[in-house]
Amino acid sequence: MMLREARFEPGKASQASFLPSSLPASSDQEQPAPDDFEDDDKQEEDKNDPQHLSNDMPSKFLLYQQSVQSPKGDISYLLKFFLIYVGGRQPLHFQEDFCGTALLSTEWLRSDPRRTAVGLDLDLEALQWCMENNINKVGADVYSRISLFHGNVLQPLEAKLVRSEPQELVRNIRLTERNDSLEASTLESVQGGSTACADDDCTKRNSRLPARDIVCAFNYSCCCLHKRADLVLYFKHVLEALSKKGGIFVMDLYGGTSSEQKLRLQRRFANFTYVWEQAEFDIIERKTRISLHFHLQKQQKKLRHAFSYSWRLWSLPEIKDCLEEAGFQSIHFWIREMPDTADTRSTEGFGAAQNEKYEEAKTFQQQDAWNAYIVAVAK
Ligand SMILES: C[S@@+](CC[C@H](N)C(=O)[O-])C[C@H]1O[C@@H](n2cnc3c(N)ncnc32)[C@H](O)[C@@H]1O
Repeated sequence: MMLREARFEPGKASQASFLPSSLPASSDQEQPAPDDFEDDDKQEEDKNDPQHLSNDMPSKFLLYQQSVQSPKGDISYLLKFFLIYVGGRQPLHFQEDFCGTALLSTEWLRSDPRRTAVGLDLDLEALQWCMENNINKVGADVYSRISLFHGNVLQPLEAKLVRSEPQELVRNIRLTERNDSLEASTLESVQGGSTACADDDCTKRNSRLPARDIVCAFNYSCCCLHKRADLVLYFKHVLEALSKKGGIFVMDLYGGTSSEQKLRLQRRFANFTYVWEQAEFDIIERKTRISLHFHLQKQQKKLRHAFSYSWRLWSLPEIKDCLEEAGFQSIHFWIREMPDTADTRSTEGFGAAQNEKYEEAKTFQQQDAWNAYIVAVAK
């Protein structure tokens, strides 16, 4: 996850996402693959059972990060977009909305000590996991440069700061001072050492945060907002957070004919298989349910519905209209075609599309599957 200074390598630095890149759309008629895990309830882990986080089972957050996210690629594109549409200075202050385990924010902080990051999410468990498993891998000074908030993107100023317990912080700092290696502090870190702040003083409203250069909402998170009015309200909050010297908001979206039907896609990694499952698509509300499952080969266990989201699949022009209504100056689409979902049944790792690059597009003909970055510029 280390951010080596943000170089843009068009051929390599592409974004990973939920959507397995060249996958099998398993439709209803399709035969299950040998290691498909829809049919074997004996090995199933209940996501609500705390045991699934214990002993031999890796955390669902770790599995998610390994199979879904590719922060270096995202950051390369963010820097490229900032350079193209704003320019004139280095972007230093970053905000990751819908941040989950804030892997992108953690990556952002690595290469430049002047960088700061703000993360915001409704899921306190994910934020705490980030504090205890991501941030402490970067070094003790990072605690002072990152602010994770527990709350709703629709009421960001009411969100509460998530803090490390003082003893954990001190312990990490001491370890870092004693050892040159940052790994050492990671190894000694304490689990369960962060909490959401309870008093009003630590709301986002009362935090002194620098104006942000870049705000992002990745892995299709804006689909969690179902109403147009909420989308516009959220975009207005983003605009308020961005620097008056100029800044960008970047979100992603997927689409294509394959996205409006039942779909089951799969990525195989060395120790586990990741399955992305899209339920039936309601064309009146444009809503579907996404479930993420993991199958751990070594442990012979299945973690079904590790994550589950109700999504409204917005169209590109709907997003553009809402961004303009919120007050953004210009909106740009960067799109890449994804491999046809009917061609392959499953991919090894991130698959071939990892090497495809995004191109700015004014028009783009419908495909089986596509992925887009939407860049909104505030000046
Ligand atoms: C699809 S996940 C994306 C996580 C991460 N950004 C990534 O790139 O993988 C969506 C995240 O949005 C969070 N979320 C959903 N609705 C939210 C809201 N209204 N305010 C804040 N977070 C929200 C969920 O808790 C979840 O962590």
